Amino acid sequence: MMLHDKTILLIISGGIAAYKSLDLIRQLRKAGAQVRCIVSKGGAQFVTPMSVAALSEHEVYTDLFSLKDESEMGHIRLSREADLILVAPASANMIAKMAHGLADDLASTCILASDKPVMIVPAMNPMMWDHQATQDNIETLSDRGVRQIGPASGEMACGETGMGRMAEPEDILSAVYDFFFERPLKGKHAIVTSGPTYEAIDPVRFIGNRSSGKQGHAIACALIKAGAHVTYISGPTALPCPPGANSISVEAACEMLEAVENALPADIFIGAAAVCDWAVDNVSTQKLKKREGQSAPALTFTENPDILKTVSSHEKRPELVCGFAAETQDMNNNAKAKLLRKKCDWLVGNNVCSAQNIFGSDENEVCLFKYTDIGDQDITSQTLPRMKKEAVADFLVNEIISVFENKKDQNNEPSHTTRAAE
Ligand code: C5P
Repeated sequence: MMLHDKTILLIISGGIAAYKSLDLIRQLRKAGAQVRCIVSKGGAQFVTPMSVAALSEHEVYTDLFSLKDESEMGHIRLSREADLILVAPASANMIAKMAHGLADDLASTCILASDKPVMIVPAMNPMMWDHQATQDNIETLSDRGVRQIGPASGEMACGETGMGRMAEPEDILSAVYDFFFERPLKGKHAIVTSGPTYEAIDPVRFIGNRSSGKQGHAIACALIKAGAHVTYISGPTALPCPPGANSISVEAACEMLEAVENALPADIFIGAAAVCDWAVDNVSTQKLKKREGQSAPALTFTENPDILKTVSSHEKRPELVCGFAAETQDMNNNAKAKLLRKKCDWLVGNNVCSAQNIFGSDENEVCLFKYTDIGDQDITSQTLPRMKKEAVADFLVNEIISVFENKKDQNNEPSHTTRAAE
């Protein structure tokens, strides 16, 4: 997410949540934005102008008279040079002043003296938020086109619980980005499967595999960043849910398939899960006992449903279906054969020889195979160097974005890079 040519005037008003604004400055700058800051008298009780100046790498203004020289940086210039005025946190008092056009300090004067778009991030005690006066002020601002992020509900710094928590810096950054740019996958629904599946032997034992879920997790995050609505269906992993995804935890392959089918329809399906090929027959309802002199239990298996294949031939087949193939030998031929067998559009082949140390690692070495009906080749392939799993995810999501952009260019004609359900 890049905000390189954007200047944001951040107004920090009073409230304990003001500490989050320090991280917000850091995140906005990391995204490339120039950040100019005004700290109100109330805000300065909670964050020091010095830390704000250090993080923004600009002088920080606290009152009208801190703009020593009008010709150097007057309040008019300060507010009009910004592409966006972001008030975070926006206290009940600041919201009231904005609603009523007060200009009794630098922050409110800058807002009133500007025609630039304004975004507020309310943060206050739940009773103050719920008060009719605040709600009326919020409505007035909203009618005037002021955008609002949050507040969220939860436990407050003051110990009370309710509506009034300041939105998190990542969510604010995301809203700022959305304000400036249309995200390429906005409106698209993507289902991502990730992690291993666990197939029960008895109530305490299972058969699983070494998948860490890191690659699927990174893909879900990259899709969310590109604006897609993501349903993330994961087997047991040590990873947190990707922020912003609709996350569903499953164990066995059958559960995963059920969750995937329930999540359809979708535009994109990414089968990054390492689904166990077999489930144990007759799962014991009691823990199997080891008995002296008796041989080990002989397990028999049934084949699990193939989720990727089922989705590829589903009546609600997504426009783009992409699988993964973990191979230990002859990746090129095995992956190509798998792509045709499973009837998916794309297949990401990864070499998981132990020497490559891919399972659980933060890096991956992949080759992207694409089914194509253009030219005399059925399948094209692109080999990528070893890179971070996040970088693989970004690459894949950029490829996905091209599919949907091509489709738009072709006036909603089906894309040549994907195929329809049979
Ligand atoms: O056949 P193999 O397990 O190598 O295929 C890998 C691809 O197929 C992955 O995308 C995986 O998520 C998917 N798969 C599946 N259901 C299975 C087995 C694999 O969706 N039962």
